[in-house]
Amino acid sequence: MIPIAKPYLTEDEAQAAYDTILTGWITQGPKVQEFEEKFAAYTGAKYAVAVSNCTTALHLSMIVSGIKEGDEVICPSMSYIATANAIKYVGATPVFAEVQRNTYNLDPVDCQKRITAKTKAILVVHQMGMPADVDAFKSLCDLYNLKLIEDAACAVGSAYKGKKIGSHSELVCFSFHPRKVISTGDGGMITTNREDYYERLKLLRQHGMSVNDRVRHEAKKIIFEDHVEVGYNYRMTDIQAAIGIKQLEKLDWLVAERRRITSIYNNAFKHLDFIQLPIEREGYFSNYQSYAVYLKKACMVDRNTIMQKLLDNSIASSS
Ligand SMILES: Cc1ncc(COP(=O)(O)O)c(C=O)c1O
Repeated sequence: MIPIAKPYLTEDEAQAAYDTILTGWITQGPKVQEFEEKFAAYTGAKYAVAVSNCTTALHLSMIVSGIKEGDEVICPSMSYIATANAIKYVGATPVFAEVQRNTYNLDPVDCQKRITAKTKAILVVHQMGMPADVDAFKSLCDLYNLKLIEDAACAVGSAYKGKKIGSHSELVCFSFHPRKVISTGDGGMITTNREDYYERLKLLRQHGMSVNDRVRHEAKKIIFEDHVEVGYNYRMTDIQAAIGIKQLEKLDWLVAERRRITSIYNNAFKHLDFIQLPIEREGYFSNYQSYAVYLKKACMVDRNTIMQKLLDNSIASSS
């Protein structure tokens, strides 16, 4: 059976988890901090904040962006449900815009048509690892005074105009679910270049506590924390972070492998005129989290028949 995805985990990750467990510090602590620093350095962002998954990363990004009830946020009509749910969590309304046929990413032209007086943000998704045109959305956000949030759940290791995804805008959210290129079981990360966002995100992910567990634990004098606003328990554990550090070391190699396999598929399918192969334009660098094909009108069988045929041949696929 060829599964839809299989995380690449080895003895390295198992050893890192084992070693962390034996330190006795297993929730958010030094390993999370190390993972954050290494992730920020990898993406080229100033700061990174680790959280429990990408859905919680998106939720916190909505909060720090000031999105609230009555606001509208434009997002792609084709994405995973968590994209729209994050908008609903803060009481705002997801406004769905079309995606482009060639990249499956949000269409800036259709997006602009859907901007109203209530629009507060654009939530752009890097679909299946293929970067969206971040500059086009930045320009729109500048023009209409909107916030830009990137749902980069699938895009760790991808790059846009020569810079890694994670470095281009104020809030970029990643996932480390096993379907992604690197995994910590579950897990997420937010990168930002804004110090105020960085501080608030750290507060919000840990119950709004003014002093974190580690500082309290290491203090030589008693400390009492305040809970300065309504926060959440969206922490990543040190066990997950230890695995994440090892995964990050392999990320560029994993992406290279995926790209090598993609070119094998591209070569094998290039003569089939009824499917459109993935399109990677100049300046766009995909991690190929998924290999997606578009069935053209000329295709004589429908999608579900093809998916069933693949499954009959022990190959999982997803729509
Ligand atoms: C585009 C997109 N956004 C958000 C998520 C949610 O990520 P997580 O499972 O880490 O919460 C996913 C997960 O598949 C996704 O594909």
